[in-house]
Amino acid sequence: MSEHAIQLTINGRAHEARVESRLTLSDFLRGDAGCTGVHVGCEHGVCGACTVMVDGAAVRSCLMLAVQANGAAVTTVEGLADDDGTLHPVQQALRDEYGLQCGFCTPGIVMTLASLTGATPATDPDKVMNALSGHICRCTGYQGIRRAARRLAGLAPTQGAPTHG
Ligand code: FES
Ligand code: FES
Repeated sequence: MSEHAIQLTINGRAHEARVESRLTLSDFLRGDAGCTGVHVGCEHGVCGACTVMVDGAAVRSCLMLAVQANGAAVTTVEGLADDDGTLHPVQQALRDEYGLQCGFCTPGIVMTLASLTGATPATDPDKVMNALSGHICRCTGYQGIRRAARRLAGLAPTQGAPTHG
C-alpha cells in the first residue's frame, strides 16, 4: 500500500504525517492525531457522528481520505472551546437544553451546527433545523437537540430556563 506525506492544520496546530492512501480522515484524526472526540459509528456517511470541519465546512470524515485533507484546516470538537474552557455557543446551547445523553452523536452534531452558526448564535432557521436531519441520535428523542438548534437559530430565548417538549 502506498504512503503519502501530508501537511495540514488540526485545531490550529500544524501537523505532518505519512499516511496510507486508503486511510480515512476519521481514522487518521482518532489514531494519529489523538482527536478521539471524532466518533465513528456507521463508517458509511449515514449517522453523522464523525462530522468535522474542513476549511470551515462540515464534512463526514469517514467518507474522506486523510490524503484529501492535505493542505486543509481541520477542526474537530476538541478545537471549539476557548483556551480558558469557555464553551462555543453551540456547545453551550446543547448543554443548557439537555441536548445529549450518552454523547456519542454529540460531537458530530456540534460540528455541523458550528459550521452553520460560526461564533454568533443566529443564522437561517431552516438551515439549522434541516442540518439536524443528517444526524442520528439513539438516546435523546431529539427534543433537547432541537431546542438547542432553535435557540441557535434565534427562534428561542438565549437565556433563562429551558422550555421542555
Ligand atoms: S461514522 Fe461517518 S457518518 Fe457515520
Ligand atoms: S446522545 Fe446518545 S446517541 Fe445521541
